[in-house]
Amino acid sequence: MKNIQTYIAKHKERFLQELFELLKMPSISADLAYQPQLLQTAEAVAKSLLNAGCENIQLLETKGNPVVYADKIINPELPTVLVYGHYDVQPADPLELWDTPPFEPTLKKTKLHPDGAIFARGACDDKGQMFMHIKAIEILIATEQLPCNVKFMIEGEEEVGSPSLAPFIEEHTELFENDVILISDTGMISNQQPSITTGLRGLSYVEVELTGPNRDLHSGFYGGAVANPINILSQMISKLHDENNHITIPGFYDHAYVLSKEERREMNKAPFVQKDYNKALNIEEEWGEKTYSTLERSTVRPSLDVNGIWGGYIGEGAKTVLPSKAYAKISMRLVSGQDPDEMTHLFTDYFTSLAPKSVTVKITPHHGGKAYRTPLEAIGYQAAYKAYSETFANKPIPQPSGGSIPIVSLFNEVFKSHTILMGFGLNSDAIHAPNEHYGLFNFYKGIETIPYFYKHFTEIHTNHEK
Ligand code: BES
Ligand code: MN
Ligand code: MN
Repeated sequence: MKNIQTYIAKHKERFLQELFELLKMPSISADLAYQPQLLQTAEAVAKSLLNAGCENIQLLETKGNPVVYADKIINPELPTVLVYGHYDVQPADPLELWDTPPFEPTLKKTKLHPDGAIFARGACDDKGQMFMHIKAIEILIATEQLPCNVKFMIEGEEEVGSPSLAPFIEEHTELFENDVILISDTGMISNQQPSITTGLRGLSYVEVELTGPNRDLHSGFYGGAVANPINILSQMISKLHDENNHITIPGFYDHAYVLSKEERREMNKAPFVQKDYNKALNIEEEWGEKTYSTLERSTVRPSLDVNGIWGGYIGEGAKTVLPSKAYAKISMRLVSGQDPDEMTHLFTDYFTSLAPKSVTVKITPHHGGKAYRTPLEAIGYQAAYKAYSETFANKPIPQPSGGSIPIVSLFNEVFKSHTILMGFGLNSDAIHAPNEHYGLFNFYKGIETIPYFYKHFTEIHTNHEK
């Protein structure tokens, strides 16, 4: 393709400044107080799509935050790429752990990002990555090289499980018809070794509440004679894994996809050094389901984790109290074949059965989603492979990821097209955490690589049709 690098070199500074403007907006979807900022961000995204040369820009209403739509239809005979991304971000707390304020984007060099990285909430997840697509389209339109049609769906509720998106898609199926879905909202192995994300885990998330006595009690008068819901909750949680760190919920693994020997061998070829992994996390020893590698445990095997646990007295000093209630938030990462609603159900039955009569259990399900796998035979995968091969020295390798993007499996069901996950983040970019950042190399490399996806996808797709 012509002039891609030249165009980037010429407009580099502006691209960055434009992204900074988006990053300054605290579009936190988990907190209702930020509704005005979410709307403001949606409008800013719409405006940048307009400036890039897109058409039919709209803020489409949902039950929640609006979806930004834009397209550029050059010829209905040609294939259509649907770009999905999200403009909402995770809350920034704990604020005191940020070295620079989360909504004041700052450039800093790091060991893995010697050319500098943008530090801000949403820098990598997903504003920085989503914005690469807007810039890639700007380049394709400006240099008159857009080879096919493109549509954008940029939503504002991904970080809270995309609750409004399923009904929205059912309602607007025709508008979003496409031949392939392209998402940059995942990561790659390293800046030297690109990878294409070929899997996402599903998710089932529950909150549990245990109630013991009808009020907090003096732990001297009552301790030892009345069940303490925090003690009981800990015992119940400890029963969710067995001695092999296998999840004990009956039926949990029944339909879980099991990789073939060949698939296991392939995925374990990825460069991975257990010692470095442990060192980076400051742990003596890794943990996980017996007979699986760390890579497998964290991507293609289901997992169950307590994300938060609370109850009783957590203030300063010691208060002697036997609490009335105990709580925990528990997530289950799922693999292909495991239905989130069914897993929630199995969890509920089993967890309830673990409770002694001295407490009552209340379980509230939260958002969920199914797992997704991109087949390597998909022409979108092949197009992505060729795209990375043009812009990186090393060939990309397929890598399943352990994270979730809840809407992706539904895309596949509704549109019958595959999702291609061209993520350019690094695991060390601290998404969802203090000091989230995104490498300048990654930002510009993404902008450079995406146009080649359009080119190769259109070519392969057209050849297929013949
Ligand atoms: N972009 C992430 C998902 C992700 C990141 C997948 C890196 C693979 C690699 C997304 O925004 C996210 O945070 N998803 C949540 C689920 C959601 C329901 C809150 C997750 O995976 O925890
Ligand atoms: Mn994301
Ligand atoms: Mn996220």
